[in-house]
Amino acid sequence: MLHILLFGYLITCVSGQGGADVVLSCSLVEEDSGMGRIGSGALFSRTPATLVLRDLAVTPDLSPDTLTPFSPPDVPDPNNIILEAKVTSPEIPEAGQLLHADCNDQEVNCEISQYYPREAKQGSTEPAYFIVSLQIEGGGLSLTLVLQTQSVGMDQSDHPVLMQSKLELPLSQSGTLLTEVVFVVFSGSQSQSAPLGGVALLDCGFRQQARTPRQEVGLEWRLQHRGHGRKVLEMRAGQKELETGPEVHVERDGSSVDASQLLGQGNASLTLASLKVSDQGTYICTVSAGLFQAQQVVQLHVIQPPQVSFSEENLVLRDKLKLSCHCKNYYPLDVQVSVCDSYWMVLGFMVVTILFFYQVMK
Ligand SMILES: *[C@@H]1O[C@H](CO)[C@@H](O)[C@H](O)[C@H]1NC(C)=O
Repeated sequence: MLHILLFGYLITCVSGQGGADVVLSCSLVEEDSGMGRIGSGALFSRTPATLVLRDLAVTPDLSPDTLTPFSPPDVPDPNNIILEAKVTSPEIPEAGQLLHADCNDQEVNCEISQYYPREAKQGSTEPAYFIVSLQIEGGGLSLTLVLQTQSVGMDQSDHPVLMQSKLELPLSQSGTLLTEVVFVVFSGSQSQSAPLGGVALLDCGFRQQARTPRQEVGLEWRLQHRGHGRKVLEMRAGQKELETGPEVHVERDGSSVDASQLLGQGNASLTLASLKVSDQGTYICTVSAGLFQAQQVVQLHVIQPPQVSFSEENLVLRDKLKLSCHCKNYYPLDVQVSVCDSYWMVLGFMVVTILFFYQVMK
């Protein structure tokens, strides 16, 4: 099975009618079809490719004058891979962040692979699907988009339909692969920190095209830490469950997802109460709705600032000065010691110096 990944970054920031276009420069990565060799990076080959997100909703602070619309190449080339994604419904959440990253030269990782939905019609190649993973550098917004190809229609002038040479999919007259966004799973923050014993909110949400009211939404949160995985919470919610309440399996006590928020706003965020050190790790939010399933990954760091104290008896001035600083009840163990060594020693030194001058001046 052919798997294609695109890796790249935003190159330009342009505007279409009423919205803005974001153009991503990517490279197409194909996975080797060899059996049982999945998961090794060495088996990918890269080809340049482009992703164009059309008509993103513009935030008022972006001046339309600074934006220019995406223009496809003058001569369509079947070897070019240009994915043109219409973004109407669903809208891309936090699209403003993408535009800002674009204009501020912040790098955005972009990976695209061919996607095969659950229960897709056997043997049918139309429509084709792609899954796009976008991550703004520095732990901010992360998006997983499912793109569905649109039919390019018949050419009135009886031109033969141009086929993309690698993907074997029909191209539009301007040489782009026309797609639209049909499903989005996203997280506003790829990394979270919360104190020991406290509460963490791990952000995850989804958007979907043409939701039927009776449709079910499946959600699973898993924790992956040092090679071990365990389920945290599983939920199945839909119109049917509104009367009986959602079907929920809580595997970790004190974890919860608001079922009405999940159905109403597409908010799949996980709340974890009474945090323990063992809650630290990589959380995977998987949302399934209709044909589609996609994931987001959120890192949770459990932290505990130290309780710092000085031994008071040592603050009395003697010939030889010794100041002890005590740190206790903190996590992780490797980070806080240097705070104790430098910051508190400097502060301690200043206190002692002031006391010394106070004694002398008296
Ligand atoms: C979900 O709700 C929480 C709290 O109400 C909010 O902080 C968070 O941003 C929401 N996330 C999404 C993805 O809608």
